[in-house]
Amino acid sequence: MGQTLTEKILEDHLVEGDLTTGEEIGIEIDQVLTQDTTGTLVWLQFEALGLDEVQTELAAQYCDHQTYQFDFKNTDDHRFLRSAAGTYGAHFSRPGNGICHNVHKENFAAPGKTMLGSDSHTPTPGGLGELAIGSGGLDVTVAMGGGAYYIEMPEVVNVRLEGELPEWATAKDVILEMLRRLSVKGGVGKIFEYTGPGVESLSVPERTTITNMGTELGATSSIFPTDENTKDYLERLGRAEDYVEVGPDEDADYDDQITIDLSDIEPLIAKPSMPDNVVPVNEVEGTEVDQVMIGSCTNGAYEDILPAAKMLEGRETNKTTEMIVAPGSKQASEMLAREGWVSEMMAAGVNFSEATCGACIGIGHVPASDSVSLRTFNRNFEGRSGIEDDNVYLCSPEVATAAAIKGEIIDPRNLADELGDLEDPGFEMPEKYTGSNVDLIAPDEAPDDELIKGPNIGDVPLKDELQASLEGEALLKMEDNITTDHIIPATSDILKFRSNIPKLSEFTLSRVDQDFAQRALDADGGFLVAGENYGQGSSREHAALCPMYLGVEGVLAQSFARIHKANLFNFGLIPLEIDEETYAKIQQGDDIEIVDDVAEAVRSGQEEFTVRVNDDWEATAHLDASAREREILADGGKLSHTKKQAEGG
Ligand code: F3S
Repeated sequence: MGQTLTEKILEDHLVEGDLTTGEEIGIEIDQVLTQDTTGTLVWLQFEALGLDEVQTELAAQYCDHQTYQFDFKNTDDHRFLRSAAGTYGAHFSRPGNGICHNVHKENFAAPGKTMLGSDSHTPTPGGLGELAIGSGGLDVTVAMGGGAYYIEMPEVVNVRLEGELPEWATAKDVILEMLRRLSVKGGVGKIFEYTGPGVESLSVPERTTITNMGTELGATSSIFPTDENTKDYLERLGRAEDYVEVGPDEDADYDDQITIDLSDIEPLIAKPSMPDNVVPVNEVEGTEVDQVMIGSCTNGAYEDILPAAKMLEGRETNKTTEMIVAPGSKQASEMLAREGWVSEMMAAGVNFSEATCGACIGIGHVPASDSVSLRTFNRNFEGRSGIEDDNVYLCSPEVATAAAIKGEIIDPRNLADELGDLEDPGFEMPEKYTGSNVDLIAPDEAPDDELIKGPNIGDVPLKDELQASLEGEALLKMEDNITTDHIIPATSDILKFRSNIPKLSEFTLSRVDQDFAQRALDADGGFLVAGENYGQGSSREHAALCPMYLGVEGVLAQSFARIHKANLFNFGLIPLEIDEETYAKIQQGDDIEIVDDVAEAVRSGQEEFTVRVNDDWEATAHLDASAREREILADGGKLSHTKKQAEGG
């Protein structure tokens, strides 16, 4: 049997495991991407690694999520990120230069490469044949330090495209059709690989709209093969040398197959407040629209905005409907401006905005209360727009622009019939992408060679390797179902300290016990004790990092939530399972000692550990860990482990 494209790229980068579905594999990463809200911690962790420069072929730091400066913290973060990129050899994209996925696609994405990014829409360059995966910040740090990325081998699903899109149907409608069929959970543990005769009818920017929004299916990634269109796109970008042919074998063996006939696709729309709440546009026709927004990493490219500009030429937006265009990159803004399209849109009533994520995460252009907003974005979860009772619909730029003209939702085909002179603007790429790109700073042009930290940026500690003896106080005894929100609350007044671990740590478990942080620091280490399901909730790494900063050595719990347990290993905290009786007997303040030679026992695969309490009684605790998790734990967590490996240890 032949190989899928996914298998070929993974095999080229494989450092551990084989490609059996569901089994853990380790892969080498070629490119990494971070953005401003996740990047500060990534670089602080990289600093803790003690390396001089990034080890991947390419690293890029973007500033796109919080580019409006509400106070000094964002600006300080951006300055720190610029200094980190300069110091360690990454490209730096200045605030306002655009959304990470758009700028990356235009400048760096390359077929056959692997990429890891600390942003969920990292899979966007799959449209160019790059295998790109979104991950936590620590994984990105480790990849930049030269470490492999570990993942369970996903199922590879073939999405076979046939036919060609009819008039007014777009790539956005293709991915909305996928969401309509499969739901927001339909892609979990899967990579969607697009093949078939329909592929060649889609340009690269159309393909990247599809791969971008594969994230809404819950997919690990989405990817297209390369062809003449990919070559042509890279040539227009002035990057012909990055082209390589990649694709599946003809007899590739897929885990599953879906067929989409593009000629059956019609304009679709996702109703509030889920991306899979998809219906044909004509089902919701007549709904009054207060706001229309074109932009985001899904539909913010030059080629997405041009159709809107053409539809608006010589027309005006409806008096009741506000229309905002926020391009995905400054290059797109600049080109549209030079070609006169920006003034054309402005004359039609469009408010032209900075190239940023902004409104996609509720920063700016918040809809009015109890109003309808049509957006070309990828997510419409309740409240994401910045107001709780929002009604956000997701659609293509063509459907959005038709609504801006009419003042209500209308299938653009019907609007064309009504107006008589409105034509499908089609999909058009520029002859050459000509943006001046001054805001993208290459490592050799970097103005900084040392880190600049404002007052809200603190150091991240590295944990020492596990010692033979492990003892300390039971610092806090907790009930069942302690969530990561209990451990580190996610409210904005607390999370604003995400780059300042010493400060953020002051809030550790404060919802359970106000004095916990100080007590842990005073005790100079110790253990947490909990009932069932400790650490349920989000994958927040701070929920392990902050206890580690306070000196916590491990957690004794009846059971652990899966992701948090992985994070405990990653930050060097030993997660030991205890039975109900032991849990009932241990009291807060007890002295706890793990009797065995802990370092040796962890490394050798020992599962049962003896816990001595108050030098008085003993119980058995259980360590359930893979060989790799044991190595990471024994080395003091993933960062220390990576450092050791980088030093050849
Ligand atoms: Fe930014 Fe929204 Fe994309 S936050 S990265 S535009 S999903």
